[in-house]
Parts: sequence; structure tokens; C-alpha cells
Amino acid sequence: MFPRRVVLGVTGGIAVYKSCELLRRLLDRALDVTVVPTENSLRFVGAATWEALSGKPAISSLWQDVSGGAHVEVARAAELILIAPTTADFIARLAQGRSDDLLSATVLTAECPVVIIPAMHHQMWQNPATIENVRTLRARGILVMEPAEGPLNNGDVGVGRFPEIFEIFDFLGEHKLLKSDLLGSQVVVTAGGTREMIDPVRFIGNLSSGKQGIALAKAAAARGAKVQLIAANIEESLLPRDKAIEIIKVGSTAELGRALDGLSSFDLLFMAAAVADYRPAMANSSKIKRDGSVRSLDLVENPDLLAQLASKQMSAERRGIIVGFAAESAIDEAAAREKLNRKGVDFLFVNDIATNEVFNSDSNGGILISRDGERLSLQYQPKDTLSHALLDAVAQGIG
Ligand code: CTP
Repeated sequence: MFPRRVVLGVTGGIAVYKSCELLRRLLDRALDVTVVPTENSLRFVGAATWEALSGKPAISSLWQDVSGGAHVEVARAAELILIAPTTADFIARLAQGRSDDLLSATVLTAECPVVIIPAMHHQMWQNPATIENVRTLRARGILVMEPAEGPLNNGDVGVGRFPEIFEIFDFLGEHKLLKSDLLGSQVVVTAGGTREMIDPVRFIGNLSSGKQGIALAKAAAARGAKVQLIAANIEESLLPRDKAIEIIKVGSTAELGRALDGLSSFDLLFMAAAVADYRPAMANSSKIKRDGSVRSLDLVENPDLLAQLASKQMSAERRGIIVGFAAESAIDEAAAREKLNRKGVDFLFVNDIATNEVFNSDSNGGILISRDGERLSLQYQPKDTLSHALLDAVAQGIG
């Protein structure tokens, strides 16, 4: 099992501001992160920032929450302690086994892995005292990452820089502390709902917000994948801004079809978009008047994009895994299996929209069935953790 409950310790160096981004990226992985800043670090970034970003109190002192035994509680709950940045002073204090603030006391109490990301001036990093302290910490089993080389705060150049966040993630991945199982894979996610125009202002659409697809795109990117997110009519503010996620905006089912046709090969595709089954036979080029001239709509059927894609993949050189989605008014497993076979997909995730609030909600749940006849029930939970559970199941062939 990979750690999910993480203590992010921050100590008082200028690189603290970079840890705000690190925290965001850890949260993207649906990790449960508690920030424990040292008093000095709060001179650089205040507790309000940590609390707003993590959604939890950020306590520094042993004298707060004394009755709750904060350090014992924090340490007991932690499955990983990541201290980033770690100053030379804090390294020295850890080497001495000090415990006069919440972070040092937490490290002393904890039984989980402790990872240290040092960042300091290169002369401090290369000072024999620091070298000796780092050796001591490593001998005790604490993982100390080498700082990066490059420009330092005061114009000097040397070893001591806070590493890039992806390098920290690679380091954690190498030590089996963070999932990077999708590194190098190409993942496609369709999300949102297609719209079929009736006239320039009216359309046939659906309630899909795109939140599930977005959560999947973020989860896959967080695990190292390059993601293409085909977004059908998703509210701009919900769209992720992440270098690993390319966003392709579409409107109608025909546009979604063209975007899918234009894809090069992929390893994994999640067809989370709600696709309109029918479209008006003719879209009026001007706004329809209320003069009684149009009282009914003539509809024609849209192609089943998922079925088409799955059949095209059968002959593809590199066959990707395809996951379909079905929102049903009640889960009928036999009907779901029939749908999975009809579409020719590897997996189908079925959610019950009558029992649970799904549309525009931040939570979702349902069953995942596979072509091989397996079944996994996924309880109603936040869409981000559900996305990781879906990725786990699909990556392992359901598990
Ligand atoms: N889908 C698609 N093209 C369509 C309709 C649906 O690609 N024209 C995809 C959806 O994106 C989803 C899956 O097929 O991943 C299942 O969608 P659903 O609406 O449940 O399937 P339908 O074939 O429309 O079945 P139903 O008769 O239950 O509506």
C-alpha cells in the first residue's frame, strides 16, 4: 500500500513558497495532507496559506492543542512525513533528536517513513557539520534527497537548490512512496456533455458537469501520464491547468467524434462524456420564432462513438484499454454486461443516478465491470479518490 496520509513539514528557508505548489500537487493525488510548519517558516509563508490550501489547521507549536497531544496524533496518523524544504538548522535538530516544536516532535514520535528535501546555501550544504548530520539521519533510515544544482538565492551558483516538484515525485516514486505507475503512458479522457444545436441559441444537452472526467484526467496526470482531456461544454473555471493535461474543447457529438478520430494511439481511454444519442435533423440557422411554425423536432440518430472507437481499436497496432461510462436510473448488472459487450469495451463503470446525487456533485460511486466478467463495487466517495480507485482497478485488470 502506498501512503495516503501525509504530513508535509515545512521549515524556515526561502524555498518555502515552492512548497505551496508541492502541497497542491500532493492534493491532486488525492492524498490527505496535514501541513506542519515550523515557527520560523511562518515568517515566509503564513499559516493562513497552508490552511486555505490544505483545508486543515496548520499547527506549529507543541503548546497548541495540548490536551489532544497534537504531535502524538499527527505522528500516529501519518503514513509519510515529507519535510520540504528542510533547512540546515532543522537537519541539525533532527540529528540531535530534539523535540521542541510540533514538527521535530512528530518526527521523533512517528514510525512511518520520513523524507527530507534539503534546500540551503551551497556552503551550508557542504559544511562538514551538515554532511555529518545528513550521514547520521541516513544511518537512522531517514531518506534525504540530494538538493539540485543551480542558481541560489543570493546570486551564487551551487548545490543546494530546492528540486523541481517532478524530481521530488520521482524520488518518492523510486522509494515506493508515491504512485507513478502511469509514467510514460498516454491517457485520453472525454468529459462533459455534448450539445446538439436546434438553432443558434437552443440545444439538446444533458446535465453532465464534466467533474468526473476532470478528476480522472487529474488523477492520471498525477500518476505520471500525459493526458488529453476532450472537454465537451465544461465550465471554464473547472478546467484543469496542468502541463501534463492537453485540453481539446468540443461542442457537439460530431465534434467529439472528429476529436476522437484525430487521436494518435493511446494506452487508456475513459469515455466519461455524456454523448447525445440524437440530434435535430436540421439545425435552424436563425433563431426559431414563437410563431407556431416549429412545434416538433425531427431527430436523427448520432453514431455510437464509443462502439466505433472500440471496433477501430481492434485493428490498431497498439491497442489501448477502453473504459465506458453509463449513468443508469438503476443498476441492472445483466443489462450493463450486455452494454459492455455491445460497445466492445474493456470496462464499463455504471453509476446509479437515482440513488446518489451524481450530476454536478463532487462525489460518485457505482460498479466497474470488465470484459473478463469481473466486478468491483466502488462506494459513493469524492470523485478524486474514486478516480484513483478506477485507475488502480483498470491498471491491475480490476484486482
Ligand atoms: N456513448 C457514445 N456515443 C453515443 C452514446 C454514448 O460514445 N452516441 C458512450 C458514452 O460516452 C458512454 C457509453 O457510451 O461512455 C455509454 O453511454 P450510454 O448513454 O449509457 O449508452 P447508450 O448506448 O446511449 O445506451 P442507453 O440506451 O442506455 O442510453
